Amino acid sequence: MDTRQPGVTPPQERAALRFSEQFGTDPGGIWRAPGRVNLIGEHTDYNDGFVLPFAIGAGVSVAAACRNDDLIAVTSGQVPGGTVTVPLADLKPGSVRGWAAYPAGVAWALRGAGYPVGGISLAIDADLAVGSGLSSSAALECATALAMIDLNAITMPRTELAGLARLAENDFVGAPTGIMDQTAVLCGEANHVLLLDCRTRATTQIPFDLGALGLTIVIIDTRARHELIDGGYATRRAACEEAARLLGVPALRDIADPGAIDRLADPVLRRRARHVVTENDRVLRTVELLRGGQLAAIGPLLTASHASLRDDFEVSWPQANTAVGTAISAGALGARMTGGGFGGSVIAMAAVDQVSAIAGAVKREFAAHSWPQPAFSTAWPSPSARRTR
Ligand code: GLA
Repeated sequence: MDTRQPGVTPPQERAALRFSEQFGTDPGGIWRAPGRVNLIGEHTDYNDGFVLPFAIGAGVSVAAACRNDDLIAVTSGQVPGGTVTVPLADLKPGSVRGWAAYPAGVAWALRGAGYPVGGISLAIDADLAVGSGLSSSAALECATALAMIDLNAITMPRTELAGLARLAENDFVGAPTGIMDQTAVLCGEANHVLLLDCRTRATTQIPFDLGALGLTIVIIDTRARHELIDGGYATRRAACEEAARLLGVPALRDIADPGAIDRLADPVLRRRARHVVTENDRVLRTVELLRGGQLAAIGPLLTASHASLRDDFEVSWPQANTAVGTAISAGALGARMTGGGFGGSVIAMAAVDQVSAIAGAVKREFAAHSWPQPAFSTAWPSPSARRTR
């Protein structure tokens, strides 16, 4: 996704302009955090398993400066209305609602961990759609987290910062998500996918040079919107924890033999657990293929992941199933929903010269169902969050 389109002001410049308009001074700097695509390994992170995401070009920009009072003031180009202002000392879970809870929660998490974050003004702008399944929340958290630590001369390993951004989302915002998104946003590298062992937090960069093979990842935003605070995500998570408890293991990561799942009497728990166990295996097989230089051969694993999310984990949605099926019929090597599910985006791996045929076929299918038209973009592994000015 190229954020530099002719005639379109890039989000970092819009954030800087908004900062000057709202706060009457220039920002002290601008920080940018990308969204992410998860190549494979869905709903495995909170089961201590394996994930394989990469940072994309689209993301969130934050223009920021220290204040000489103890307030956090945030304004966003994507949200109508003015600036949300809260005294830092008043921050507690539930005290800020809506989008402003993400930056406020990051300040709360950093301060709670003993880091001296003082008053700060933040102006946000983005070229990543909220609810599109590409981690707009993690991008917002991580861009503001970097601004806060840089402006306060705090240093810490990025994995620690990822943990604090996740804490903000879990405990301040109230979305019980795993550690994948923040780690992808803060630790991704161009031309690589990030293998994350969610138990040990060990990260390994795996080469993923799509361009060298004339391939790309097409992102199909199905325009059906999701909310991780809704019940579906938390219910899946609770079912996985219950299955692990009944199987006598700390987490479903510890089940290597899918046959062990048959011991679960409840068919729903059996399906949920089967997804997690088979998905961890698909991630490791994908990594093996990539390490063996067989990038184009991973397609069937992506498609199998989608089938498992649709049938066993039951987090897919009609537009995603149609987009996956149609993309494959139109020549994609593999396709799957990406992210938490219940809405958001599908990814399809395809030859660059197949992209327009795939987009045309998917558009026709959506029109035939009278669904709003999907949005298409192409993505490749891009650099992680950073200061841009
Ligand atoms: C969301 C969460 C992640 C992960 C995915 C599903 O994106 O934020 O932690 O659980 O769903 O793989």
